[in-house]
Amino acid sequence: MPAAAPRILMCPPDYFGIEYEINPWMSRAQGADPTAARRQWQTLRDTLAGLGVAVETLTPQPGLPDLVFTANAGLVFGNTFLSSRFKHAVRAEESPHFEAWFAAHGFGVVTLPEGMFHEGAGDALFCGDTLFAGYRTRSDAAAHHWVAAKLGVRCLPLELVNPRFYHLDTCFCPLAPGVALYHPDAFDGYGRRVLAAHVGTLIPVTAAEASRFGCNAVVVGRSVVHNADCPELSAALVAHGYRPVAVELGEFLKAGGSAKCLTLRLDGEDAAGWQC
Ligand code: ARG
Repeated sequence: MPAAAPRILMCPPDYFGIEYEINPWMSRAQGADPTAARRQWQTLRDTLAGLGVAVETLTPQPGLPDLVFTANAGLVFGNTFLSSRFKHAVRAEESPHFEAWFAAHGFGVVTLPEGMFHEGAGDALFCGDTLFAGYRTRSDAAAHHWVAAKLGVRCLPLELVNPRFYHLDTCFCPLAPGVALYHPDAFDGYGRRVLAAHVGTLIPVTAAEASRFGCNAVVVGRSVVHNADCPELSAALVAHGYRPVAVELGEFLKAGGSAKCLTLRLDGEDAAGWQC
């Protein structure tokens, strides 16, 4: 029996723009070009579809420019959707839209207790059976522990010490159980030791390419879709037996996001042990 197609949720960039500044990449003065953003988003979508992904779409909403970053909707685990608790009020308004979509598509929707923040798959990524969890800027360590207890999985919190890499998915990308991309300078010495102790093959991404959001990649089997102009990353992926696929996503970098943030895997990431 052929394996089911990977499923990914995306949201078209109809209302995307830089309307507030909640991370160091965003500048209202610089803005984003809506035509270029639409073209880049469509190329990403077509690229994923070309890799055999079933892309599902959320209806864009006026006044929610960051709704395109579906990675932050919440964390998907089997048939459960743990809805995010956004740090910033401007993004918290996205949650009812995400929750309605997941409820309508057969997921059990779980909300976190009040008073703790968690920004979904942007800050919580499975590599094998372990949930690697970025905290400090957007998500709280307490929220990660609550989620891990709820799911019955082991969680390793990693402090994100560099404000430019404010979500874990900007500096860490599991490729398979025991294999991940990472940008060392986004972590402190302790975080780097935790990663080295628990991920057998860590592939470093340079500062220049991490700033091009090279770590913010979408993994589909052996294909890794990442932002353009990351030649060293592409070469490292080839050396490890992966197929790099570069897509220009410069308009989304202006909002502090790239390929991975624009997607949410609905059937479990390839690197997640529980998927198999
Ligand atoms: N402007 C968005 C924010 O600051 C970008 C989110 C990017 N998402 C991600 N998973 N890294 O929240």
